[in-house]
Amino acid sequence: MEAPQSPTTTAAEGKLCEDFAVPSYVEEVKRRMAEFAERHGAAGRRVVLITSGGTKVPLESRTVRFLDNFSSGRRGASSAEYFLDSGYAVIFLHRHRSLYPYTRLYSGINLLDALRSEPEGGRVVVDESALPRITPVLKRYQAVREAGLLLPVEFSTLSEYLHLLKAAAQALSSIGPKAMFYLAAAVSDFYIPASEMPEHKIQSSNGPLQISMKMVPKMLSPLVKNWAPQAFVISFKLETDPSILLERARRALETYKHQVVVANVLDTRRGYVVVVTRDDQHELVLTDEEEQKQVEIEEKIVSNLSASHGQFMGQQR
Ligand code: PMT
Repeated sequence: MEAPQSPTTTAAEGKLCEDFAVPSYVEEVKRRMAEFAERHGAAGRRVVLITSGGTKVPLESRTVRFLDNFSSGRRGASSAEYFLDSGYAVIFLHRHRSLYPYTRLYSGINLLDALRSEPEGGRVVVDESALPRITPVLKRYQAVREAGLLLPVEFSTLSEYLHLLKAAAQALSSIGPKAMFYLAAAVSDFYIPASEMPEHKIQSSNGPLQISMKMVPKMLSPLVKNWAPQAFVISFKLETDPSILLERARRALETYKHQVVVANVLDTRRGYVVVVTRDDQHELVLTDEEEQKQVEIEEKIVSNLSASHGQFMGQQR
């Protein structure tokens, strides 16, 4: 049965209810996110919801094949660490098996190459030279865990992402302007509605495949208007053609009326972004020296945005 819609329901929200089944576990996750937000909000802490990684769009109901994208989740995972360092509590809404805060630093390392079995006592020890900076990183990770500052939530498919984002937005609405949305996920723009999807594996014996896909509803619209209207909202804009980037970022701000767009180009995204607001645009760049010292652009993005979030909160009082 379709969910009842209020008179202010946006077209995107209507489409979400019609075409994407709500996963059974969403209510429970929403309860946990609401409890997390209320606990940290009551302690005077700001809470950021970070979306991270790409989405998977199935081509068959009993899915053998799906459409995916390039996002590794590095932007989201490293930003989570800098937000935690800046005093935020973090809900990390991420794609299953994409990069994760702290463990991302060791994602290219075979764990078995970093462990040694001691001949006596049967103990296993860590070879610290194989895991750079493991002691401070482990200490920081454990401190974050013990303080309950990081709530991880996983998604795989587009449908899961959309419903979990809605649940998160509603869960954070109780803390008003203390909530920040940092939408770094690369969400598919296209999908096949369940009613039009073949049930079984598409047969290659039927010849070349032609598929027709519908446009995915943009969640920014109901998020800003209905689900979390008091929050500080940042979307990202990725392009491959730098000449259209800023125009697209400005158009997104005009359409959705949120606070910030972080604009980036695929090939240069690790060292250069532009933070675009209604009356300003600010370039953040890593110098050669910073790159050598392994400074990350996310440190600059988070510092810039947490300052703007502070000003935004001041204006809401
Ligand atoms: O993960 P990495 O490899 O580190 O890469 C990081 C990144 C390049 C993925 C990230 O920096 C980035 O740019 N993410 C946004 C990609 C993009 O262009 O999204 P979009 O134009 O499809 O969507 C615009 C915004 O609306 C995004 O913030 C998106 O999260 C959000 N969105 C998109 C679709 C949708 N249905 N609902 C949404 O809310």
